[in-house]
Amino acid sequence: MVGVGIDAIEIHTGKLCLDLGETFAPEMGDDPDKYRKGLGLYTSSFPDSYEDIVTMGANAAHRLMKRTGRTPADIGRIDVATESAFDNSKPVSTYIAGCLEQVFETTFHHANKGERKFACIAGTQSLDDAYNWIRAGRHRGRSALVIATDTALYARGDAGEATQGAGAVAMLISEDPSLVELSPEQGYGSADETDFLKPNQQFPSVDGKRSVQVYLSRMREALQDYESVAGDTHPDDFAFIPFHTPFPGMVRKAGLLGYRHVIRDTGVEEELAAEIGRQPRPEAFDDDQTYLDAVSEYTDALKETTRYQEWYEQVIEPTLNISRYVGNWYTGSVHVARASALKHALEQDRELTGDRLLVASYGSGAQAEIHTETVQDGWKEEIAAFDIDEHLDARHDITFEEYERIHDIHNHDIKSEDVEEFTTPSDEFVFDGWGRMGERKYKFV
Ligand code: CAA
Repeated sequence: MVGVGIDAIEIHTGKLCLDLGETFAPEMGDDPDKYRKGLGLYTSSFPDSYEDIVTMGANAAHRLMKRTGRTPADIGRIDVATESAFDNSKPVSTYIAGCLEQVFETTFHHANKGERKFACIAGTQSLDDAYNWIRAGRHRGRSALVIATDTALYARGDAGEATQGAGAVAMLISEDPSLVELSPEQGYGSADETDFLKPNQQFPSVDGKRSVQVYLSRMREALQDYESVAGDTHPDDFAFIPFHTPFPGMVRKAGLLGYRHVIRDTGVEEELAAEIGRQPRPEAFDDDQTYLDAVSEYTDALKETTRYQEWYEQVIEPTLNISRYVGNWYTGSVHVARASALKHALEQDRELTGDRLLVASYGSGAQAEIHTETVQDGWKEEIAAFDIDEHLDARHDITFEEYERIHDIHNHDIKSEDVEEFTTPSDEFVFDGWGRMGERKYKFV
């Protein structure tokens, strides 16, 4: 069976940069360490006045197609995952295809287009759709273009404001891919939850503390479900574990609970027993609360062990390198985490071909999904072409007053008079005003 997976990847970051510790924290009356150490975020990306989910997605897709020498004839479907859509009928993929048709000589009229919604997990679901389409043999030798694009803005004053971000990830899904091959095995944890939602409103209604617990619960279910089909996992099985990363502090919690789960009944648990004891088992306790207290005590001790800290430093920490500087990109965030880890491996001159990643996606509302990916022998070339650092460095730093202005400009309920640009667009798609039916228009400059 020919493998299917990610052949190439490009990332477009929003072009403005807000320093959370220096600029945001003092205005909120917060200690900068709440952001840098607690949430694990230094800066976040924001869209300039001429950027939105379409321009960011189209710019990432354009760079991807140009770099890999693809034309519209090579693409059989375009799926966009977003939770920031501005149209309940016309999908963002049609706008993006329209943009790309301005710069390619041929069209995407033959390509199936759609839009996927399930909060942040929709990016991974679009990957799945592309995988299934190719596996079903309906692709006629073509690739799928999957684009995860979001402006993750919260209402001013919401606790989530600290975790905002904006950017897009474009991925080419093909047979015999250069970067990673996806496993057919998957695990799900899915339940009707009201942790984070946008009932026909731009900014989310969020129960932040509960959302953290729901993330962890669904993730545990997904891991158990994955193991039920793929067999038990072991911490040494995976080179990296990219998680959906709303903020790195969330992944710190998920990584610890995941590690506790996967070492149970392994030699690692036995080795650690001399130092911190074995994990509590429910049958040894008279009531649930005493058992949960014992588990919590064990987890705290596990976190302090050298063995766990070394594993975390190697397997999880490198997935967070980009996220710390861009914030939450919702649908794109787990795909940024994967790219971040592979980039780190290249910089460390590590050989990864044949190694596996455990990829852990999550969307509020709520669903977690876990699958594995096997790194392919073209990974170094593909990741070497990746110029995210340049784009991050080129961002324009904004003051708090400029942040307030840009938040208003992107607020659908505010008609901003002052829509001055902070940066000068070049060689990219930009928002170009409104059409006669209320559609958004775009041009390449
Ligand atoms: N030094 C070091 N650490 C500090 C600190 C300081 N001076 N001050 C605070 N901290 C730590 C806190 O102890 C806390 O860490 P722990 O959780 O490990 O204890 C961390 O910094 C954050 O502090 P608070 O909990 O006080 O922060 P908050 O209540 O203002 O907001 C939040 C946290 C609820 C997660 C909020 O950012 C939020 O609502 N975010 C949006 C929702 C979200 O991202 N949820 C994640 C799961 S849902 C999901 O993943 C989907 C998605 O993309 C949205």
